[in-house]
Amino acid sequence: MIRLQNFIGSEMEPHLEALGGLRIRVFREYPYLYDGSLEYEREYLQTYLNSVDSCVVLAFDEDQVVGATTCIPLSHEGSEFQEPFIRVGIPVGEVCYFGESILLPRYRGQGLGKVFFQLREAHARSLPGIRTTAFCAVDRLANDPRRPLDYRPLDGFWTSQGYQRRPDLQAHFVWKETTEEVPTSKTLTFWIKSWPAL
Ligand SMILES: CC(C)(COP(=O)(O)OP(=O)(O)OC[C@H]1O[C@@H](n2cnc3c(N)ncnc32)[C@H](O)[C@@H]1OP(=O)(O)O)[C@@H](O)C(=O)NCCC(=O)NCCS
Repeated sequence: MIRLQNFIGSEMEPHLEALGGLRIRVFREYPYLYDGSLEYEREYLQTYLNSVDSCVVLAFDEDQVVGATTCIPLSHEGSEFQEPFIRVGIPVGEVCYFGESILLPRYRGQGLGKVFFQLREAHARSLPGIRTTAFCAVDRLANDPRRPLDYRPLDGFWTSQGYQRRPDLQAHFVWKETTEEVPTSKTLTFWIKSWPAL
């Protein structure tokens, strides 16, 4: 039985290493190929601990963290997240940014990914002034030789959840890939969903 629990802001602190470890494990796979470290994870996740309005949902199997999804007001994220929205005239204060949805492979395909969207959207809608929910995904070439033969893009899933890919909204983040000697910049494209005012 999987148990889901919401953690607001600093409530997540006791699980920071488990979440960082899970991110490193899942994002090591294609398409992110992230060669992560717990040191970087602590710094990245600190933003969520510092925000009183962030929400991290953890999926537990017994006492093991096997999945997670995160969201935070865009106004509490760094400028590299905010700039694409400023450039196209979407007010930063109206956006809730969805950080990630990750599950260990054996827990996928059972509907938890959809529940992760529902829980983050419910949290985003509980915050005053949020009109847009958004996340981004790394751009990869269709013929990338590192793409596993059985890889299924998530585009269809994201579209089914009401999200639209916005090639005019791109961010550039630096990380080290498993096949790289040094970290390099990657391009990510945002997907967004607009909500009526409450
Ligand atoms: C994203 C992720 C959390 C989705 O979770 P999930 O619990 O497997 O998703 P669900 O079971 O709710 O399935 C959602 C839909 O996606 C489809 N789907 C399931 N697994 C999929 C996969 N590996 N690839 C593509 N689509 C998939 C399902 O068919 C379902 O669509 P349907 O209802 O039309 O059949 C999970 O695939 C994952 O951890 N992936 C690796 C990390 C990642 O890339 N995260 C996204 C970027 S942060």
